[in-house]
Amino acid sequence: MKEKKKKSLNESNFWVNLVLFAAFFIVSAPQSTGIPIHEWLSFVFAVPIIWHLVLHWKWIVKVTQRFFKPLPSETRFNHIWDVLLFILMAVVFFTGVLVSEVALPMMGIPLEIDPFWSSLHNTTSNLLLVMTAIHLAVHWDWIVKAFKRYLFRKPVSQKA
Ligand code: HEM
Ligand code: HEM
Repeated sequence: MKEKKKKSLNESNFWVNLVLFAAFFIVSAPQSTGIPIHEWLSFVFAVPIIWHLVLHWKWIVKVTQRFFKPLPSETRFNHIWDVLLFILMAVVFFTGVLVSEVALPMMGIPLEIDPFWSSLHNTTSNLLLVMTAIHLAVHWDWIVKAFKRYLFRKPVSQKA
């Protein structure tokens, strides 16, 4: 998988990941932004997430095809984690839509909010924070190298 890692340390990944991180940070803090910004930004947030997945599409297809064949344990872990992350993100998004107080009513769809969806949205969004932190932790080397190379323009080893 060294070849994949070399290719993945590229500038477009870095900028998309930076936007993704900033958007995720803001979307995860509705207490600070207020609910209207939280809801509208959550819709916009779909763009960097899809972009992030498109940039890794080859990796996703390749590892999925090889999943039942020998693979480095780190790659296998990342694949399983990424799938769980995707499912959880979808649950958070759709439960968010079901408890919408601003965006859906403004689109002419008033909702009677069921406390079950509210509590599911709150619980899953908190779990998503923890899972995303682990997703970032396992890519920490990449993050440090990408910051040095693309933000501080320092030479870094080609190994990443
Ligand atoms: C639906 C949620 C997400 C999914 C399915 C997902 C999926 C992926 C995939 C497939 C990769 C490349 C393979 C690997 O794991 O090594 C990856 C890498 C990465 N992701 Fe995510 N990701 C998600 C959310 C996020 C979020 C919210 C952030 C930032 C806060 C993030 C930051 C990163 C970073 C820094 C890398 C490593 C660098 C790179 O190759 O781009 N991801 N992610
Ligand atoms: C996919 C991205 C989303 C993330 C990461 C996210 C995250 C969160 C978080 C962390 C909270 C606070 C939970 C707590 O108080 O413990 C919250 C509350 C809330 N979210 Fe989201 N959310 C997302 C999508 C949405 C969407 C799409 C909508 C509606 C269009 C929405 C509507 C709401 C509402 C109304 C609350 C307040 C609910 C309550 O206090 O019972 N969210 N969200």
